[in-house]
Formats: sequence, C-alpha cells, structure tokens
Amino acid sequence: MKRELPEQLRFLQNRKAVQKHSEESMQGKLCVVSGSTSGIGYEAVKRLARGGANIVMVCRNEEKAKKIKAEIEQQYSVSVDYVLADFADLNQVRQAGELIKNKYPHIDVLINSAGIHSTTKNFNQAGIEMVFCVNHLANFLLTYVLLDNLIASAPARIIQVNSEGHRFSGVNLEDLAWKKHHYTGLKGYGASKTAQLYTVWELAKKLSDTGVTINAMHPGEVKTNIGNNNGKLYRWFLHHVTWHFLKDPVISGEALYYLASAKEMEAITGKFFNLTIEEQPAKHALDPEKQKQVWVVSRHLTGLTDKEL
Ligand SMILES: NC(=O)c1ccc[n+]([C@@H]2O[C@H](COP(=O)([O-])OP(=O)(O)OC[C@H]3O[C@@H](n4cnc5c(N)ncnc54)[C@H](OP(=O)(O)O)[C@@H]3O)[C@@H](O)[C@H]2O)c1
Repeated sequence: MKRELPEQLRFLQNRKAVQKHSEESMQGKLCVVSGSTSGIGYEAVKRLARGGANIVMVCRNEEKAKKIKAEIEQQYSVSVDYVLADFADLNQVRQAGELIKNKYPHIDVLINSAGIHSTTKNFNQAGIEMVFCVNHLANFLLTYVLLDNLIASAPARIIQVNSEGHRFSGVNLEDLAWKKHHYTGLKGYGASKTAQLYTVWELAKKLSDTGVTINAMHPGEVKTNIGNNNGKLYRWFLHHVTWHFLKDPVISGEALYYLASAKEMEAITGKFFNLTIEEQPAKHALDPEKQKQVWVVSRHLTGLTDKEL
C-alpha cells in the first residue's frame, strides 16, 4: 500500500501525480496572459490558442510579442493582441491594464505568469525590491485593474502562476527592502510568492458572489528562461545540473489550460494547485492576520485607493 505523506509534505508526492486534462473548447473566449513571451506563459498561450481562445499578451518585449503573435495567428484561427508593460514599473502596469480594460470589456480568463528569480537584491525606481514588485505587486495590480471587466464577463477565471517556492519564506512586511534580514534568491522569491497567495485567498473571498474565481498554481519544475538574469555560476549550475531534473514546460501549458477551461473547475476558487492537483500550501501562507496585512500593504504599494474593492 502506498504511504501518504503528511499534508504539508504532499507536494513531494504530487510532483509525480497523474495530471488532469481538459479538451473543453475555449472557442471565442478572451484570455489575457502576462509573461507570455517565454516559458510557461508562452506554452499557455499556445495551448489556449489551440483550444480556440483569442489572446491578449501583456509583455515588455515588443519584438518577442510580434513574433509570437505572427506564429500563433498563422497556426490557429484566433486573434493575438499584445500590450506592453515592464512589470518593474507599476505605472506601466496600471496603464497597460487600463488600455486592456477599455479595449476588451469582455475578459474570460486572466493568467498571470510574469515572474523572475534573482540571487541579488535589486530595487526598482520607486525603491521596491524587484522580485516582490514583478512577481507579486505587478500581477496583483493588473488583476485588480481588470476586475470590473472580469466580473461583468462572469463566469470568469483568474489564475496566478505561483510556485512551490512560496515554501522558502514568509513575508517580512516591516522589512520588504531586506535591510534587517539577509536576502537570498530563494527567500526573496518565496516572499513574493507567499504575498501573492495571501492576495489570492483575500480576492477569492471578495469575489465570492461574482462568478469570478481566482486560484494559484505551481507550474511544475520546467525548463524555461527563469534565472537566466543571474550570474555565470548560477547559470552554469542551472543548465548543467538542475536542467536534467526539469521537465518540458508543455506540461505547464496543459495544466493552465485545464484550470482555465475544465467544467469541474468553474466554481473552484481560493485554492492552490500543484499543476492540476489541489494541494495545501505552506502553513505560513495561511495566516489570516498576515493575509489582511499583506492585502493592505499590496494595495498601498500599488497605489490603489480606498474606493476600489
Ligand atoms: N520554470 C519553473 O520551473 C517554475 C517553477 C515554479 C514557478 N514558476 C513561475 O512561472 C512563472 C513564469 O516563469 P517561467 O519559468 O516561464 O520563466 P521565463 O521563461 O523567464 O518567463 C518569464 C516571463 O515573465 C516575463 N517577465 C519577467 N520580468 C518581467 C518584467 N519586468 N516585465 C514584464 N514581464 C516580465 C518574461 O518576459 P521576457 O520574455 O521579456 O523576459 C517572460 O515572459 C513565474 O511566475 C515563475 O515564478 C516557474
């Protein structure tokens, strides 16, 4: 008989679990996807387009976006649009969100995949630690700006591409700049992903009667460009050692398609998935007090006013 691991360690088993799939059509649906120029987001837009969905990419690199638009439109009978924003700059994210909000009143699915992992501590122009800004605040802000459209389009789904890496660290709200705590890539990454989870739980509550669901997912351990911004040694290790244990990101695209389209997912909200398997996140990510605090701080740092939800 197979021995079950304790709930908090179940993620080790789930890595090898048989995944769920969906062949539900996404014909005519509008999906907004951040981080779609590479890796997991790119696999997601290809899979969504194969399922018939029209795509709006939110990305920072116009050359890459044009190439992907041409590639997908040539292969599938869908339309692909793109809106530019550097997620290190929250003003750009707000503007991109407003643009999409005005141009696309109907949005069926929002997938946020933009993300980075940095072994060094960097700050954006507003003085916010970069990983926290890109992985959490920017995706949070984009989600927030598009909420009215998602609610008006219900049933609609939001999926935050999170990570098992949230288990590496909680959030030190009093030290988001890591002045008193030693910064490491794993801790900075973990803090950003934990913060995102808190806002997923909070938004799921706030959206409970709207027909809009929000879930977070770990996209597997897959071969992408993440980490390529780091130093030579890191990259050598990534490509010569870690690489052999990583999978094809097609599995992430498939999982995102399942979460975005499967009928049985329609009413599921406020959950964490390891690919397509529902899982318990780390205990520190379930602290209700911290959740409230992160919500307030995230709204403050993204410049959201009290009038907004
Ligand atoms: N790969 C894994 O095994 C793994 C595991 C767990 C979680 N994840 C999560 O999966 C998500 C996608 O990562 P990935 O593995 O697919 O990495 P990736 O190949 O590097 O893709 C990251 C995407 O985010 C975009 N991005 C990064 N910084 C940005 C910025 N400042 N402004 C706008 N867009 C920005 C990138 O744009 P460019 O193309 O312009 O660089 C790219 O489209 C991340 O949230 C990551 O934390 C990945």
